[in-house]
Parts: sequence; C-alpha cells; structure tokens
Amino acid sequence: MSLFGRLLSGTPSEPHLRDARMQDAPDLARLHGASFHRGWGVDEFERLLTDRAAHAHVMTDGPKGAPFAFVLSHVVPPEGEILSLAVAPASRKKGHARRLLAHHLSRLAALGVTVSHLEVDAANTAALGLYHRLGYVEAGRRKGYYREAGQASDALVMRRDF
Ligand SMILES: CC(C)(COP(=O)(O)OP(=O)(O)OC[C@H]1O[C@@H](n2cnc3c(N)ncnc32)[C@H](O)[C@@H]1OP(=O)(O)O)[C@@H](O)C(=O)NCCC(=O)NCCS
Repeated sequence: MSLFGRLLSGTPSEPHLRDARMQDAPDLARLHGASFHRGWGVDEFERLLTDRAAHAHVMTDGPKGAPFAFVLSHVVPPEGEILSLAVAPASRKKGHARRLLAHHLSRLAALGVTVSHLEVDAANTAALGLYHRLGYVEAGRRKGYYREAGQASDALVMRRDF
C-alpha cells in the first residue's frame, strides 16, 4: 500500500510473504544493487526466476505492495543453497529477514530439502547474526576469499540441518 493509502486507512500494512515471480525481477535487482557491491541485473534475475531449481520468496508492503526483501535458493533436494538474501536498507533491523528466512526454509523443507548451505563474508556481522539466529553453523572457511578495494576477508561456509 502507498504511503497515501496508509494515511487514509490509518493503519500500516502488514508485511506480506509470497513466492517471487518474473515481474519482480526489476525490484529484486534494485534491492540487490542497494545491498551488494556487485549488483545483479534485471536479466540475471529473470534468468534465475525461470530456472526450475531456483526458489525465491519476497516480503512486500501489503498483498499488492512491491518487494522490500527477498531470498533466493538453488534447490536440488535434499540440498538447498542460498544464493542471495537482502532487505531494503530502510527496512532493516525490524525482524523482517528472520521472518522471511524462516518462511523460506519451511517451504524448502516441504520440497524435501534437509540441509541448507550458504556462503557469507566473515565480516558481515548482520548476516552472521541472522544465520546464527536461524540455526546455521559454520562448516568451513575460505581464507581471503572476498577482495574489495584492496581488503580481503574470509568466506564462511555455513549449513543448517533441518
Ligand atoms: C543481513 C540482513 C538481510 C538482515 O536483515 P534484517 O531484516 O535487518 O534482519 P532482522 O531484523 O530480521 O534480524 C535478525 C537477526 O539478525 C541479526 N542482525 C540483524 N542486523 C544486525 C546487525 N546490524 N548487527 C548484528 N546483528 C544483526 C540479529 O541477530 C537479529 O536477531 P534479533 O532480532 O533477535 O536481534 C540485512 O542486513 C541485509 O540485507 N544486508 C545486506 C545484504 C546481505 O548482507 N545479505 C546477506 C548476504 S549472505
């Protein structure tokens, strides 16, 4: 719902969870670009969303609102790998990623997934806090894997068994 709609109704929209669809590709590219140094383009998201192994969920501002958060996994049961997850900067630290990821994992479990893997920058404290909160544990470390502006940081490989 628009801000005007909210003011008229007097109540804020409840965040809404749904499967991602092809029309979301521009919003997902925008969210990705606002969250990572190397953003993925609209065409990249269009390609991913047509891949039968890709499963993505979005959180929107009300049932008809645009996505402000998404999570995308590549799934080949019994394994799933989180390829990307982001919340719009203005919507962070309100529990949205926790709720979105819990929903995503429950949907993957229904597909027969028994383990979820991911890779995260060891310096990304927000993401690490989220993943620990959802029960992920460290399964490996790639030394100096990420390099940005002359700085190197490790990649943590994490897993969560269902
Ligand atoms: C990581 C990210 C998705 C978290 O989204 P969020 O909606 O702000 O997270 P939530 O509010 O649901 O927080 C869930 C948990 O994460 C942790 N957390 C979130 N932000 C944090 C921060 N800035 N510092 C430390 N811990 C943090 C907390 O443990 C929190 O649990 P709590 O609510 O019980 O305290 C968000 O910061 C983001 O989009 N970052 C950029 C993209 C990114 O790094 N994606 C992950 C790549 S692998």
